[in-house]
Amino acid sequence: MQNKLVYLVFSILALATIIQSCQNETSINYKRYYVNGKSIYEKNCQSCHGADGKGLGTLYPPLTDTTYLRLNRSQLACLIKNGQQGEITINNISYDGIMPGNETLADIDIAQVIVYITNSFGNKQGFFDTETVTSNLTKCK
Ligand code: HEC
Repeated sequence: MQNKLVYLVFSILALATIIQSCQNETSINYKRYYVNGKSIYEKNCQSCHGADGKGLGTLYPPLTDTTYLRLNRSQLACLIKNGQQGEITINNISYDGIMPGNETLADIDIAQVIVYITNSFGNKQGFFDTETVTSNLTKCK
């Protein structure tokens, strides 16, 4: 009986340690992705979408529309890699421009810039991993 109890307590402790180290790993990755994502954003995106993500008039849409980013989460990798055109509505304003693709960005760069934009400019949508980018890129519309 006592052995069982010791075993149970030990298992719970072990499990708690594993869960905690996983969380730490995610939060370390999150910070790393966010910081790298910011510099990728500054090089590749900021000239149009702005340092504050507010876009430019009716030419370049802002990245502040949390609902759009959330609803299109699984298409963001395709949009960034292949570009985007056709009419879209962001924050109730209609845009009909052309965003060039970023063919040279690796999957990890795309994941990092997604972590940055979906957690800046009023967005708080958590981590986005490279595996998801790779898998989403096989399903571009
Ligand atoms: C040359 C200007 C330009 C650059 C550079 C650019 N975009 Fe865009 N982006 C646009 C335009 C224009 C649209 C809207 C296209 C349309 O009308 O369909 C857009 C749309 C978007 C959208 C969807 C709409 C929205 O506002 O949420 C996202 C997300 C986005 N861009 C992210 C990025 C990211 C990330 C980068 C850098 C890797 C980037 N863009 C670089 C011009 C640009």
